[in-house]
Amino acid sequence: MEALRIITEEHQNLWRIATTIDQVADEMQAGSKVDPAFFGAIFDYIEQFMDGCHHAKEDEYLFPALRQRSPEAAVVIDRLQVEHRNGPEVLKSLREQLAATAAGTLGNTEFAEALRIYTQSLKAHIRTEEKDAMPLAREVLTAEDWTVIDRAFLDNSDPLFGDQAAAEFRQLFHRIASLAPDSIGLGAHSAGILQPGASKVSGDVLLSVSGLESCYGRIKALKGIDLEVRRGELVALVGANGAGKTTFLRTLSGVQPASAGRIVFDGEDIVKLRADLRMRRGICQSPEGRQVFGPLSIEDNLRLGAYTQPKHQVPEDMEKVFAMFPILKEKRDLPAGTLSGGQQQMLAIGRALMGRPKLLLLDEPSMGLAPLLVQEVFNVIKALKAQGMTILLVEQNAFAALAIADRGYVLETGNVTLTGSGQELISNEQVRAAYLGM
Ligand SMILES: Nc1ncnc2c1ncn2[C@@H]1O[C@H](COP(=O)(O)OP(=O)(O)OP(=O)(O)O)[C@@H](O)[C@H]1O
Ligand SMILES: [Mg+2]
Repeated sequence: MEALRIITEEHQNLWRIATTIDQVADEMQAGSKVDPAFFGAIFDYIEQFMDGCHHAKEDEYLFPALRQRSPEAAVVIDRLQVEHRNGPEVLKSLREQLAATAAGTLGNTEFAEALRIYTQSLKAHIRTEEKDAMPLAREVLTAEDWTVIDRAFLDNSDPLFGDQAAAEFRQLFHRIASLAPDSIGLGAHSAGILQPGASKVSGDVLLSVSGLESCYGRIKALKGIDLEVRRGELVALVGANGAGKTTFLRTLSGVQPASAGRIVFDGEDIVKLRADLRMRRGICQSPEGRQVFGPLSIEDNLRLGAYTQPKHQVPEDMEKVFAMFPILKEKRDLPAGTLSGGQQQMLAIGRALMGRPKLLLLDEPSMGLAPLLVQEVFNVIKALKAQGMTILLVEQNAFAALAIADRGYVLETGNVTLTGSGQELISNEQVRAAYLGM
């Protein structure tokens, strides 16, 4: 029944999109401007969802089997399939209304109304599939049916539903996340203000790395890295396994020695400075694999992040982290080991924030997380950026990282091989081939 798991996952994402549309419709009615790029991305997503993966497989494999096994299925499936068929027409009309609203010939209120009617029907459709069709399928379909259906749903070479379609799909989702109004953020936590600061990139350079080398014994893991981060910037560093991403971050934070090169941070060459002194100057890292202290309470883990800070500011900073991640407040006295992977990631980020970073280093924050949690983590990063935090983000999840980054660097076996804006790198053929699985 892998097919059902896949369908449910897709439903969850689509439900979040529908909820997002509703929220934006409310804001539009309250007078905010209509962003054609944002809605365009949403409609692209839904369109691809319908044509590219979801409906085709259901109509071709799941529904016929269901009809065959259960006479009572017909009523439900007839309705669902009519809705599938009407989908493109409805979407076309929404696109026309978007264009009219952007051109000023249709009012915000009318467009908001049309969007609400649409999301209601979308949600009703999802509910019918989840509450009627899927339980029936579980009950009446045979093992042989599932073999055929699951094989179709898991076929990764299928151009309509395979790896490539999934990658394009992820890109669209991240595009929506990055275009979404700050007030929305697709279900992430409402981020409290950690440091008042301009969300604009100010132009002056906070970190300047030149010719940086670092070795493990005789193996040179960094072979002369040049990289810059400006104040307020979100810079993504992407690259394959073993490229040296973690080594680079550890060399910045000082837990790994540099063998050559300069690291100028906030106007000072820090390459010889001890790790704790770099942290005091505002370089704080959320490490690869989170590395929270399992037996210690969540609160104590956060306190550890503030060990270079004056004691009196700890309670206040902790409240700010709790405002950002309410789940951590709820569980503050529990051992960190009892948290889920996603929650531990929030804790690792929270712990780094307790050091009042001027530059936040994040090493693979989405690693090992379920797709929906990956989204949450990226939303948190986006929220931090919106508050003016300067961030260097290391990710294997290159799509998602580049989609929210101002600029990116591609690292290959210890060398920077490409650099450009996030969007430039996403559209670069080499990057697409090597890192985006396309
Ligand atoms: N402690 C170590 N001792 C020896 N070699 C190491 C050590 N840590 C990393 N390396 C080597 O240094 C190179 C860079 O590794 P690094 O962990 O920095 O890569 P990465 O880009 O972070 O990879 P990943 O995506 O797997 O996290 C690799 O060749 C790796 O084998
Ligand atoms: Mg790494």
